Amino acid sequence: MFGARCLVRALRSCSSAPCPRHKPSARLSVRDALGAQNTNGERVKVQGWIRSVRSQKDILFLHINDGSALESLQVVADSSFDSRELAFGSSVEVQGQLVKSPSKKQNVELKAEKIEVVGNCDAKDSGFVHIHTPIITSNDCEGAGELFQVEPSSKIKVPEENFFNVPAFLTVSGQLHLEVMSGAFTQVFTFGPTFRAENSQSRRHLAEFYMVEAEISFVESLQDLMQVMEGLFKTATTIVLSNCPEDVDLCHKFIAPGQKDRLGHMLKNNFVIISYTEAIEILKQSSQNFTFTPEWGVDLYTEHEKYLVKHCGNIPVFVINYPLALKPFYMRDNEDGPQHTVAAVDLLVPGVGELFGGSLREERYHFLEQRLARLGLTEAYQWYLDLRRFGSVPHGGFGMGFERYLQCILGIDNIKDVIPFPRFTHSCVL
Ligand code: 4AD
Ligand code: MG
Repeated sequence: MFGARCLVRALRSCSSAPCPRHKPSARLSVRDALGAQNTNGERVKVQGWIRSVRSQKDILFLHINDGSALESLQVVADSSFDSRELAFGSSVEVQGQLVKSPSKKQNVELKAEKIEVVGNCDAKDSGFVHIHTPIITSNDCEGAGELFQVEPSSKIKVPEENFFNVPAFLTVSGQLHLEVMSGAFTQVFTFGPTFRAENSQSRRHLAEFYMVEAEISFVESLQDLMQVMEGLFKTATTIVLSNCPEDVDLCHKFIAPGQKDRLGHMLKNNFVIISYTEAIEILKQSSQNFTFTPEWGVDLYTEHEKYLVKHCGNIPVFVINYPLALKPFYMRDNEDGPQHTVAAVDLLVPGVGELFGGSLREERYHFLEQRLARLGLTEAYQWYLDLRRFGSVPHGGFGMGFERYLQCILGIDNIKDVIPFPRFTHSCVL
């Protein structure tokens, strides 16, 4: 799975190139440095990640943390150390003298003599914190009822009750958990297995697939969200192409001749944006005979998605503002009418159709409360509603199917060919 690591790297934008180095003699953890009694200028080496950077005229302050303590260690450096690489999220190794701090905020600080960036983290799109969202969950995020239920295979202790006291399922999306965590870390992501009990044997559906999901606080427009989505697709693909050219070439040569040029075309053009309403108009005006007649209020089928991508010049197409009735409860109401829509966005790509699904989230308490009440979900999602009671912020996010991503960049027609052990209806081999 050569793409997986690149993909996560693209989202975190943190390179973690290991550099061989000898074991430092006086290496201290941040915790030990903070608790050091000897602050008479002892020379030490501390490694960690930059949590903040403050640059003044002659002096540079960094706060670094390695996870050993809640508090970060203040590093004080000469302004000559200042560089673009010293940014939030970059991992560094700092050598210098541990001295008593003149400030009351901390006892000690590290006077830097040498700062080495171990893995830089591009400041312009850094700061996504990786969250391990649970695989077993009690929510149906997408509300589509495509859940696999989880129970012990043999009844233990209390046979008539659920193991977790409530019905539990394999996750269909980590989104709701990410929404919780985005309230603490602003920009978060997860990358993990996702399960859907979809009765489909299509070339783009699996019962178990991997999904990259991101959630961003303070996002107020779909435009901002689409910029991150397009950036993720282009950055991840550029990294894959430069890190694994032989693997990609092999697929392009023997499986999908011409895919290299098609991919180049996607990378060098700006993605197209159309509304769902425009999409329906385009489909209605088409001379193609679709199996499913396009109509406002009805979901787009694969044949429609593929047509739209072709119509837009084989460049990925964002379709935005879908009918409210088609989308899950968490999407933000556009308050338009009479054709009522929500701030949803799907990215359709050549050969595959939908690759990303995302939206602005309904952050307004009363809107969400009414929506949940109408769907009879108030009790189940009380905790989710509570997130809107205490310091609610506009936010949004998206998910990208990893196997569909591989299909798209490698030009592989069937999703079962990009995963070693595909699971789908009537098939769970090994
Ligand atoms: O559009 P979906 O259902 O969106 C969500 O789950 C959101 N909660 C994500 C979010 O906003 N955090 O799924 C996202 C993507 C799809 O666009 C598709 O690429 C992939 O996941 N996907 C599948 N891939 C393979 N097999 C399936 N059965 C898939 N269902 C969705
Ligand atoms: Mg979707």
